[in-house]
Amino acid sequence: MPESALESVGLPPASEDKTTLKTFNSFAIDLISIPNAEDLFWYVARNVVGRLNFVDCVIYQADDAQTTLTQVAALGGKNPFGRSIINPLKIPFGQGITGQVAQTRQAIIVDDLSLDENYIEDTQRARSEICVPVMCEDRIVGVIDSEHTDVAAFGADELEVLTTIAAMTCAKLKLLAEEDRSNRRYHDLVAAHAQLSRETTNRKALEAELFNARKLETVGRLTGRFAHEFNNLLTVMSGNLDLLQEDIADGPQREALQDAQTAATKGATLIQSMLTFSQRTRLTPTRQNLNSIVKDVVEQNVAANGPVIELSLGQDVGKIDVDRKILETVLQHLIANARDAMPQGGEIRVETDNITHALGDERSLVTPLVSGPYVRLSVLDFGNGIAPHELQQIFDPFYTTKPAGAGTGLGLSMTLGFMQQSGGTVAVQSVAGTGSTLELYFPAIPSHENDLLTIGR
Ligand SMILES: Nc1ncnc2c1ncn2[C@@H]1O[C@H](COP(=O)(O)OP(=O)(O)OP(=O)(O)O)[C@@H](O)[C@H]1O
Ligand SMILES: [Mg+2]
Repeated sequence: MPESALESVGLPPASEDKTTLKTFNSFAIDLISIPNAEDLFWYVARNVVGRLNFVDCVIYQADDAQTTLTQVAALGGKNPFGRSIINPLKIPFGQGITGQVAQTRQAIIVDDLSLDENYIEDTQRARSEICVPVMCEDRIVGVIDSEHTDVAAFGADELEVLTTIAAMTCAKLKLLAEEDRSNRRYHDLVAAHAQLSRETTNRKALEAELFNARKLETVGRLTGRFAHEFNNLLTVMSGNLDLLQEDIADGPQREALQDAQTAATKGATLIQSMLTFSQRTRLTPTRQNLNSIVKDVVEQNVAANGPVIELSLGQDVGKIDVDRKILETVLQHLIANARDAMPQGGEIRVETDNITHALGDERSLVTPLVSGPYVRLSVLDFGNGIAPHELQQIFDPFYTTKPAGAGTGLGLSMTLGFMQQSGGTVAVQSVAGTGSTLELYFPAIPSHENDLLTIGR
């Protein structure tokens, strides 16, 4: 590239010129508050180069791949208003004067563009050009380019000024990159912290679940064993009481015997609940229509002057394999609990529907449920509700808040045991003072199996 042979028509030496010094001073101060690379490039074009007698300036930014320059800020003919650039060019490294500066990383001054075959004419024809690289470490970040309609408009002074501007721009770009890196690191750390908190919470929840499962398993095993033994004894007692009854005439002795028989029957019911809770009942599941079970139980309640129950039964509710007798008892328990939660009276709602459970669905399940289709039976009341800390306990055997003699605390524990043994589970939602919803999930039977069995029967 030819050295500038002619006198430049531009700037006095930077060190001797007040305007240049003042401009550099303002640049140094303003640099602190420039927030990003785009603002920086525009600031440099307008407030630095533009203040220093340059009538034209285009700043190019290099891409990460170090192959292409793109015009990102301008002053003069290329910039008619605001931050617009007329026909913003992309120039490959090596092409034209700017491309050569990017490739060689050396500044270029061309005194007479009409003699330079590398010149790429842009919006207007110029006669001389100066272009300096903006380098950060060993990477080219961009170039600062200025053209003039006069021949040999640029010399050593302009080169000194633009090189200084490029160095200051580069220093700021480094700071911005560092800021960007530390912002990203900060956000990564915040995300990692959030993830860790989530994992810790999850782990705590899992530990609590495991502890609960182990506790219930131990209690269940103990209760099951005890209940079996006791049930055998009760069967003997009850059988003998039956035999005796046949031989004893009406009178006080027979009444005493009947009291003993009633106590034995109550004991047997209690033992049955315990066996169910510990999942050691021998279930006899048969294919059932849930809606018809619900209707039967509700009718029994109506016949016994029970609470008002509103039904909302899904039309297309699938069939289920279930021990009908125990399910009836379970539903009675849930209705009784709902009734007890509304001492002033109130309506209970019983609903059935089909539902698909997916892993991660929030359903307030008491025990985990395999993903898939289920048939759901819900009992809703608008009574006292259950406090959050009690939600953990209501499924524990013998947990009751009812007065002595009014509840054994086995209703919900046997409900859960039965539902687990039937391949489903229970969910509970409650707001203290507003009401509760207890839901039973039964595995749905695939519809083709449903049809086969119906036809086969
Ligand atoms: N629908 C409900 N609304 C408010 N609290 C409830 C409801 N269902 C159950 N509970 C609470 O859970 C406890 C345990 O219920 P669970 O059915 O196991 O035993 P219980 O009703 O006390 O006695 P049992 O059912 O053996 O007669 C109840 O004492 C009550 O505090
Ligand atoms: Mg109960």
